[in-house]
Amino acid sequence: MSQKRASWASSLGVILAVAGSAVGLGNFLRFPGQLAQNGGGAFMIPYFIALLVIGLPISWLEWNIGRYAGAHGHGTAPGAFNILFRKPWAKYLSSVSMLAVLFISFYYIYLESVMLGYVYYSFTGLLPEMAANGQSAEFFEKYLSFEFKLFNIPAAAIFFLLTVSLNMFVLGKGVAGGIEKLAKVLMPILMFLGLILLVRVLTLPGMEKGLAFMWNPDFSALIQPKTWLAAAGQVFFTLSIGMGVIINYASYVKRDDDITLSALTANATNEFAEVILGGMIIIPATAAILGTAALTDVAHGGTFGLGFITMPAMLAQLPMAGFFSIVWFFLLFFAGITSTLSMYQPMISFFTEELKWDPKKSIMILSAIALLMGTYVALDSSLNTLDEIDFWGGNFFLLLFGTIEAVLFATHINSEKGWLELHKGGRINIPPIYRFVLKWVTPTVLVLILGGWIITEGPARFMMTYYAPEVRPSILKTRILLVSIAIGFNLLIAYAWKTHNHDDKLKITVEDSIHD
Ligand code: PFF
Repeated sequence: MSQKRASWASSLGVILAVAGSAVGLGNFLRFPGQLAQNGGGAFMIPYFIALLVIGLPISWLEWNIGRYAGAHGHGTAPGAFNILFRKPWAKYLSSVSMLAVLFISFYYIYLESVMLGYVYYSFTGLLPEMAANGQSAEFFEKYLSFEFKLFNIPAAAIFFLLTVSLNMFVLGKGVAGGIEKLAKVLMPILMFLGLILLVRVLTLPGMEKGLAFMWNPDFSALIQPKTWLAAAGQVFFTLSIGMGVIINYASYVKRDDDITLSALTANATNEFAEVILGGMIIIPATAAILGTAALTDVAHGGTFGLGFITMPAMLAQLPMAGFFSIVWFFLLFFAGITSTLSMYQPMISFFTEELKWDPKKSIMILSAIALLMGTYVALDSSLNTLDEIDFWGGNFFLLLFGTIEAVLFATHINSEKGWLELHKGGRINIPPIYRFVLKWVTPTVLVLILGGWIITEGPARFMMTYYAPEVRPSILKTRILLVSIAIGFNLLIAYAWKTHNHDDKLKITVEDSIHD
């Protein structure tokens, strides 16, 4: 490669950066929500199965693709797929991954800024005070509808601007100088904050009720396909797989550096944060303090109700409510920012490497996209727009790209060579059974899950009957916007390859190729 690519400064750094991407709102809000809605403890069975047959193999696959593509000057799924499959369609097909992460970023960054706002209002005491009066739902509503003002400007807008600026500032410092440094500081702090809350919750009187709800399985949930789909979806979301993010982060790993153990370690860290911290804070605490009846609301109120309404309401019942509220929202904010950085970095890589824009221009453009789209999401305080974007980005596209990836690799790549490539510099040997899993089990299971998911969840969503009739026009508008973005992005891919003649880069030596 003519131009030297950025790389991580240390192997601990890359593990923490990937763990930072994985550990996010998905662990602390989405996971307990999914668990409560899908059979309580019974959910853990499909969850662990999905982790073993989909999560881990796809992670290894993505680390492998990423490191390989990085060595050839590419850090995005389109760049990687182009060198791997050497067919023009491959890069367009893989745009699904970048669209998934782009769509997720539209709302995720806004939620992250809400966390920051909640940290602020925990400090000022307004949030704990309103929560103590049973008004945490009202607080949430007021925050979202811009009723709180700072210097006469809606507080939500100020925190949003701050959050976007902070993200872009860190990205501007580069992979090792920005993302890695921040992950090294924030990940230990995040774990520490999580442990503080965990200890607090586990020492609450009556918490057994909550643990019982969490771990007593309702096995009837297991015969519903929806439980299995939810488990697979959660595994994708939480491990940040199926969206080109791991491909991108792994592209900054040096060619002979370990990826087998790094992937495993990052995933193990994520699972600790998800199952132990995420799974044992909100639900047991709610059951202990607000009673098990409140859990039914939790199950129905979904992810946001949990984090923004139930949790402050619950914390308000404790001594030092303000302190715990600060700990909780800082935890969420830190979890959020290490994730959003990983959503933006693949785009920066696309802009700088495929379109050859300079890094400053790339960050400016990304900031404009983040601000515009975040505002678009924020303007609908009913959160329907967010929900719709999450459906496409955070559910459908992830699963779709994961399936495409697993099937293409099983059918087009020489698995012997791929396996050797994966183990270059590897500190552990992956159990050989995983070669079989990657070739047969993962793609088959994913095709089945994707199919099942389209059949069960698809119609109501595709036809919009999922939404009340009066919101359908605005959902349609959002859809038109998303489709335009998808088309626009694919045009950019076409333009990038046309103008920068990427095919020159296909001079990969035969020994170097993992192609059949
Ligand atoms: N894994 C993150 C979470 O669990 O919250 C979500 C996420 C991170 C999604 C990075 C997309 C992404 F690019």
